[in-house]
Amino acid sequence: MKKILVTGGLGFIGSHTVVELQNEGFEVIIIDNLSNTTIEVLDKITAITNLKPAFYNFDLKDKKSVQDFFKNNKVDGIIHFAASKAVGESVQIPLDYYENNIISLTNILQEMKARAINNLIFSSSCTVYGQADELPITENAPIKPAESPYGNTKKINEEIIADASKAHGIKAISLRYFNPIGAHSSAKIGELPIGVPQNLIPFITQTATGIRQELSVFGSDYPTPDGTAIRDYIHVVDLAKAHIAALNRLLNNQQKNNYEVFNVGTGKGSSVLEVINAFEKVSNTKLNYKIVGRREGDITAAFANTTLANRELGWKAELTLEEALLSAWNWQKRLKN
Ligand code: UD1
Repeated sequence: MKKILVTGGLGFIGSHTVVELQNEGFEVIIIDNLSNTTIEVLDKITAITNLKPAFYNFDLKDKKSVQDFFKNNKVDGIIHFAASKAVGESVQIPLDYYENNIISLTNILQEMKARAINNLIFSSSCTVYGQADELPITENAPIKPAESPYGNTKKINEEIIADASKAHGIKAISLRYFNPIGAHSSAKIGELPIGVPQNLIPFITQTATGIRQELSVFGSDYPTPDGTAIRDYIHVVDLAKAHIAALNRLLNNQQKNNYEVFNVGTGKGSSVLEVINAFEKVSNTKLNYKIVGRREGDITAAFANTTLANRELGWKAELTLEEALLSAWNWQKRLKN
């Protein structure tokens, strides 16, 4: 049985990926410092799969803890999710973002190098493309200057991995996620935003349950068919499965290069108003929303060209926007009770 370390394995995308890994017969070890989640997620994962992953609670910035972990655990691969991810907050406290996101990665890479551990999957973001000049976005689209320290940590970390891969032969894949949404069909795990959600879907579901009074639609004057911004919303379970495909590519030595990058999206763009309409339909609710000005730093449109991931990873998003929204709604209703 292959042993996989999942950092940030109790977070939103991490927890869904742990479930899929266990479903596929991998043994999972989680490291999570619970900075943006709760320990209950571990029990929820166990309830879904009937398998309890090994769990370590420490901060990956702490070099000594990272060294001790690798001294005591032999792993076949690493999926690295653990990172700070709030765009607005990263503008307020950039040094904390650089320190947390970058040092955690270099601590892991140092151990991979020292112990000849291969096979790293890094959680990157389509934010590295900024507003791409051409849509849909291919992996060859130029990387644009980051709009936020958060986005910059994704860009820098990709560069760090590319350099480490070149110098030390570490095999790695960065997955550039588009907009992950939704929840597990069991409604036992999902997104747990702390405080006021910054992202669209949790804000929608919280508004629908009455936790928030009204959703603000940021901008209706974008050069898009209905004037609202367009994103590629991907079901988190589809996204989790992309990690399994990427991991198998590494474990089976199917890479074309030591370091590779793939877009992970559905390939389909949806506007904010389309998302609202779809949500109202699947939840059978009427959403209270108003149009306000644009949010600073937002781009007009982003959706993925997924040809490379389809061909090379043999992976394709299978779930629809409606299915993702319904799962997010079921999760929200479960949370409220
Ligand atoms: C955001 C980040 C991105 C990050 C991703 C992680 C910014 C500028 N970008 O993506 O770097 O990788 O989250 O999840 O923050 N919207 C509303 N009302 C709301 C919230 C959002 O209209 O209350 C709109 C936004 O303007 C946008 C769309 O909904 O057009 C999606 O927003 P969001 O879910 O925050 O994702 P991104 O901004 O695409």
